[in-house]
Amino acid sequence: MSTPTLARTCTELPRVVGADLRVPLVTGETITYANLDLAASAPALEDVAAHITTLLPYYSSVHRGAGYASQVSTAVLESARAAVGAFVGARSDDVVVFTRNTTDALNLLAGCVPHSGQVLCLDIEHHANLLPWRRRAHRVVRAAATVEQTLAELDSALRSTPTALLAITGASNVTGEVLPVDRIVAIAHAAGARVVVDAAQLAPHRCIDLAATGVDYLALSGHKLYAPYGAGALIGRRDWLDAAPAYLAGGGAVQEVTRDGVEWAPAPHRHEAGTPNVLGAAALAQACRTLAPVLAEAALEHERALLERLRTGLAAIPGVETLRIWADSTDQVAVQSFTVADRPAGYVAAYLSAEHGIGVRDGRFCAHPLLATLNPDSGEAVRVSIGVGTTAEHIDRLIDALTTLVTRGASWTYAPIDGRWAPTPDPRPIDPLGIGALGLPVGPACGPAGH
Ligand code: ALA
Repeated sequence: MSTPTLARTCTELPRVVGADLRVPLVTGETITYANLDLAASAPALEDVAAHITTLLPYYSSVHRGAGYASQVSTAVLESARAAVGAFVGARSDDVVVFTRNTTDALNLLAGCVPHSGQVLCLDIEHHANLLPWRRRAHRVVRAAATVEQTLAELDSALRSTPTALLAITGASNVTGEVLPVDRIVAIAHAAGARVVVDAAQLAPHRCIDLAATGVDYLALSGHKLYAPYGAGALIGRRDWLDAAPAYLAGGGAVQEVTRDGVEWAPAPHRHEAGTPNVLGAAALAQACRTLAPVLAEAALEHERALLERLRTGLAAIPGVETLRIWADSTDQVAVQSFTVADRPAGYVAAYLSAEHGIGVRDGRFCAHPLLATLNPDSGEAVRVSIGVGTTAEHIDRLIDALTTLVTRGASWTYAPIDGRWAPTPDPRPIDPLGIGALGLPVGPACGPAGH
């Protein structure tokens, strides 16, 4: 297979930490890791890691200290807010609240929807965009067989019952299918509802423009955006965020506390009680700065070429079925789930890791209702996800490995162990870093003689 565009675009893409990581196989050999699980968590960009190393000497308290390092750390946090806002095309009066991740951001927003307002969502969502709404008045619309029918269902649901918020994914974490967000916003706004987009999967692959699309709120995760330092963000309109109870009650979220009362700060600080994760925010901001210039062209072209290579390869393997939600969807980020006939998803994933050094995700992808629809037999699948660190060799290795599996079978034996398929035996070293990973003793307790 040849993809001439790859050679041109790869050189323009940022590098990820660990691109040359060697991992052991059950045979005793090692191989360069093919990380095809970026939709779960993506490695840091090299310049994100370098940025954090540069900042570390200045690491200090934020919004709390008169010292020089505190002032630098405070400036870093506030400039990170501006960078994240710029990355998603935030309006000048939008607020960027730093959270832990998308789940955290959507839970935060769930507490900000005005009291009696209903929330509407589709049944295809990741649990992060399903479960927070179950804690309040909400309705779930069943996705139809086509995008067009699904939009009509949403329109009808929004017109039939007053709705405060429509919560929708930007791109499915299972199939990668992308919804027409601008059309959805038009439908929702016509019915008087606001829109929040779960952009956990969209943001690493596509430019987003809140101002141009009219999306009211957006949630994203640093750990999927090549900035795995524990920060995510909720970005959007100020009024609900300023009127809502503080997400966490504590220091930093207040203007004044008396013996009996409290005057809460406006957003974003209202929802960021406790010491902020300034390094996480700085990492997320640096990833945004680095990705913004490449997402529209180089990364898009790179990922589209690799996704096409993947889809072509999977289509040629007997017994492999790819999953999709809608017959008429026209856009897909570089995420693809599939099943292999007569092979449990966990078995396939264990085989790919143990014999080929390939990392994929298997199971239900925190989208149980969707998997129950897409694969009623087992409710499970294997998922491949591609990003800026992915190479054509990774895809070709995966396709060759799957072809071998279905034509000749695995070379090793596998069994379910503690609920997960694993090679038996598994001779790979279980603690390569020597730090007590994977259940080994972690070391002595703190204090004299362990007391
Ligand atoms: N939400 C992440 C995924 O889909 C963890 O894998």
